[in-house]
Amino acid sequence: MQRLVIDGNTKISGELKVHGAKNSALPLLAATILGKTPSVLHNCPRLSDVFAACRILSYLGCKCVRENDSVIVDTANLTHFEVPDQLMREMRSSIVFLGAILGRLGRCRLSFPGGCELGPRPIDMHISALRQMGVSIKEEYGYLDCSIPKELKGTAISLSFPSVGTTENIMLAAVLANGETQIRNAAREPEIIDLANFLNACGAKIYGQGESTIYIEGVKEIGGCEYNVMPDRIVAATYIGAAAITNSEICLKNVKAKDLESVLPVFEEMGCSIYSYSDKIYVNALRPLNCVKTIRTMPYPGFPTDVQAIAMAALCKARGTSVIVENIFENRFKHAGELVRMGANIKVEGKVAIVEGIQKFYGAQVEATDLRGGAALVLAGLSAEGQTTISNIKHIDRGYERIEDNLNLVGAKIKRV
Ligand code: UD1
Repeated sequence: MQRLVIDGNTKISGELKVHGAKNSALPLLAATILGKTPSVLHNCPRLSDVFAACRILSYLGCKCVRENDSVIVDTANLTHFEVPDQLMREMRSSIVFLGAILGRLGRCRLSFPGGCELGPRPIDMHISALRQMGVSIKEEYGYLDCSIPKELKGTAISLSFPSVGTTENIMLAAVLANGETQIRNAAREPEIIDLANFLNACGAKIYGQGESTIYIEGVKEIGGCEYNVMPDRIVAATYIGAAAITNSEICLKNVKAKDLESVLPVFEEMGCSIYSYSDKIYVNALRPLNCVKTIRTMPYPGFPTDVQAIAMAALCKARGTSVIVENIFENRFKHAGELVRMGANIKVEGKVAIVEGIQKFYGAQVEATDLRGGAALVLAGLSAEGQTTISNIKHIDRGYERIEDNLNLVGAKIKRV
């Protein structure tokens, strides 16, 4: 099993390029299924979750080829409607294939995603929404067997919570449905806008993406297109966190500051100076960090749950006491225990974490408990005195392209062993 070994107490400096967004690339790869002609996704990150999505596409009968940063998907021979359990388990978010397969083939069978490292991952909202669109769903033997007895029909669906995956699944199913679909209380994340823009470039008719109500006018068929995956805003936030925790100065390239509107003020409150220009963000974190009063994770445009662990790692090194409230996932503080092994002073009570600033982290043997929690440990390791060894790094590889190579480019000392 691979591990990351980090020699700490380093500063970083220079320019880092941010890769394409995992959370956009995955639904976009699923969306290619709806088009009858090939699609080319540029800026498609080399991540284990993206490779898993490509394996699902290949299993379904698509031709999926990678050329450098681009992935070409030809769906001409798509015939299978089943995603086997083993492929579903490789990537929990594979549930997003459901709406796309149903839209194209009218039938889909996939295994129930089950729980994951962030706690139970219910899909009740996905199922209820698709049922409202005329899909018959049988849940048996751990599988979801979905078919369309009459027609896939557009309808108005109100979500009790703006779930990202549910919004994506409805959009995918609605593109080729009969009539207009409305998604009320839809998720407003930038990745939703990216998916809608891709589908519209393929010939779909989607309006209102980025707002609370999305309208999808069903069309008879769509083709493929060439499209650039948006930059990964969570990776960008991770690099900003790396600069903050090491009191360094860096420049990020290929980023959209607008997608980080709720994140940048938190790092500014910590004392970082941040300037954005064109597709770059400059971060100067040379001053000691200050605590922040309260961070509450929220659906977009609120503070993202995916940046909670990153912010926590940085706040461990800040002067004073910070409070973090996790409102999205019920089990998303597992990294706190690992940070404590490195000297952090964190108390967790339910969905609240209280972080008392410490002088320094100390290198230790720790384990990545989930994707962003793993990245938080890398940041702690960069600033720690001594050596940190992180195991279970398969979680980190799901969302960061060779994190050690990128951070080493700006002065970190990380080895993969
Ligand atoms: C997506 C992101 C993930 C991010 C999350 C929240 C991808 C691949 N993943 O996950 O990185 O952390 O958005 O921004 O894009 N829920 C239900 N029933 C459902 C669906 C969701 O109860 O049917 C709950 C979930 O358990 C969770 C909350 O709603 O507590 C948010 O989930 P959702 O927005 O759907 O997140 P994902 O799409 O799974």
